[in-house]
Amino acid sequence: MRIGIIGAGAIGQTYAKLWSAAEHEVFLSSRNPEKLVSLVQDIGANVQAGTTAQAAQFGEVILLAVNYSTVGEAVNAIRPYVEGKLVIDATNPLRQKEDGGTERVIEDDQIAGMVMADMLPEARIAKGLTTLWTGYVERHANVADPTIAMTLAGDDAKDRETVAQLIRDAGLVPVDLGRLAQSRPLDPPSPIWNVVLTAEELEAQVDEFRRKTAEET
Ligand SMILES: NC(=O)c1ccc[n+]([C@@H]2O[C@H](COP(=O)([O-])OP(=O)(O)OC[C@H]3O[C@@H](n4cnc5c(N)ncnc54)[C@H](OP(=O)(O)O)[C@@H]3O)[C@@H](O)[C@H]2O)c1
Repeated sequence: MRIGIIGAGAIGQTYAKLWSAAEHEVFLSSRNPEKLVSLVQDIGANVQAGTTAQAAQFGEVILLAVNYSTVGEAVNAIRPYVEGKLVIDATNPLRQKEDGGTERVIEDDQIAGMVMADMLPEARIAKGLTTLWTGYVERHANVADPTIAMTLAGDDAKDRETVAQLIRDAGLVPVDLGRLAQSRPLDPPSPIWNVVLTAEELEAQVDEFRRKTAEET
């Protein structure tokens, strides 16, 4: 599959490596593509680098992997090229605080995937790859018998299967949380966010989180 990646930081590079190893064609991009030339040479022959517009044009599927502070800029840059395409939103709605921690930047009752679907209505939005630090992914992905779960969500069942397959191709176990409206458990804060879990453990935590949230509302 041809995958255009917007953002070439921890997430962009990690999945570029894993997907190129799984023989996908990857196009990595950032606002400074000249800095990516030697990086993509090191990753492999099926990875190239360029502008965000080029990556969005190249991809049958787009992975959006920029910091939330610049997500509006990235969305506007890819908007003309993603009509009808699947965009996997890997962003977390967080900003860095001065003390080094992070804080949520969308309202408590908002769901990040639905916010993105409103921001980029031209594309089909799925959520995925958001719930684990790339350090954990690098440590656990592509082992012979993968056990580490990664969540996904999206409004289209076929798109969810595409994202699930890409998660499998990265050497992780997909856990489908359903439609974007049901994807609150994958947004921070949540008990499954950035915790290394098997699919079984993750599903149990999600059930518990949903039960508690339903009781509170
Ligand atoms: N790191 C993780 O473990 C992890 C895990 C799950 C989810 N996430 C989420 O994934 C997103 C990216 O995180 P990260 O850790 O990969 O960030 P990062 O390491 O800071 O990298 C961000 C990348 O995006 C590029 N970029 C920033 N604004 C851009 C724009 N408007 N257009 C194109 N490229 C842009 C940056 O390059 P230039 O500045 O040169 O453009 C850089 O290559 C965040 O929303 C984060 O919450 C991260």
